[in-house]
Amino acid sequence: MEPLHLQLRSEVESLYEARPYPPVGYLSPFFQRIRWEERPTLNYRAAYSAAYGSTTGIIASSKPRILVAGCGTFEPVVVALANPGAEILAVDLSERSLRRLEWQLRIRGLQGRVKTWAGDFEELPDYFGAFDFVIATGVIHHLSDPERGLRSLVSRTKEAGVFRLMVYSYWGRSLLYSAKELAGKLGIKDPAAFRRMIESLPAGHPYKIYFYLYDDARNDTGLADGFLHPCDRPFTAYGLRDLLSAAGLQATKFLHAPAGQPEAADRLARLPVDLGSWDRLSLLEWFGELEKNFTFFACRDGWRIRPKVTEYEWNQALPRSGNLRSELAGRELRFDTRRDPATYSPGELRELADALFLLPSGGK
Ligand SMILES: C[S@@+](CC[C@H](N)C(=O)[O-])C[C@H]1O[C@@H](n2cnc3c(N)ncnc32)[C@H](O)[C@@H]1O
Repeated sequence: MEPLHLQLRSEVESLYEARPYPPVGYLSPFFQRIRWEERPTLNYRAAYSAAYGSTTGIIASSKPRILVAGCGTFEPVVVALANPGAEILAVDLSERSLRRLEWQLRIRGLQGRVKTWAGDFEELPDYFGAFDFVIATGVIHHLSDPERGLRSLVSRTKEAGVFRLMVYSYWGRSLLYSAKELAGKLGIKDPAAFRRMIESLPAGHPYKIYFYLYDDARNDTGLADGFLHPCDRPFTAYGLRDLLSAAGLQATKFLHAPAGQPEAADRLARLPVDLGSWDRLSLLEWFGELEKNFTFFACRDGWRIRPKVTEYEWNQALPRSGNLRSELAGRELRFDTRRDPATYSPGELRELADALFLLPSGGK
């Protein structure tokens, strides 16, 4: 019989071969929703400066090599737009997802910017070399051994490599997991039967309310990805802290809305000053304030440098000017990249920097 981890991997592969995620239609590439607000948080320099306090150190790459692990059908399109000049490799177990991605890239003229490779990123051949920036969104928690998977990604980066990771929060999704467990007990395996189960619950039932608030549940692919996944291992704040430490990583910036940032715990209770970020996030879990996912930048343990910031530059992921909703600021912000950052007041500067629209460039 096949070992359990290979069995799980082939179940995960079958799910995404049957239902490439996110769902993108061949005939509707122009209608695909691009989350523009995510662009500044998918930029290499933003991740780099969150770790090293500057975009310019001798170890910052001017032509970064980016790995998008478990890329699905669309994310590398946004990564390419967020990182002009970067070399991007998109990897996924599901060939069908990659074919869809290639179409999405081609229709936007981005095919030359992104290479694809079909397979398990833990088995990525050495000839692909080392990366400056690794993005793994919604995939670490679908591995049979998340610690091994994350270590393998760390081993593929250069020493000053940086990461942008998104993993499921157990407490942020606890109602989803309860509903999923109920479906498991009832032997439910397909989206139509799952929808019938939800319909049969009384109005106002917490699972029902959660289900209708869960954006992805509007389509069968998103429903199967969330509620019927064969391998789903969410993290508590402390579980995530331990995972990162076992892989030799540290979180450098949480990309959550203000209410989900560690400091938000201070508004909810009087806390001892020596509590760290993980204790604070754990308290937010108890207050029910955490979002569905933990999303954050990270770098290797012991590599974090915090020079005094003296200058700023605009995040390259931004278009020339406009308004962009910033998850980090919790609101829409106006920006104009033709304006010299030095002309902003300290308050405006802080706000634009906190939202990652401006990046520290003058760390000496
Ligand atoms: C939930 S989807 C996320 C897709 C994309 N990152 C996004 O956020 O839109 C997870 C993806 O990871 C892929 N995946 C899961 N395990 C993998 C592995 N070991 N190696 C490569 N890809 C994997 C799946 O095939 C699937 O396309």
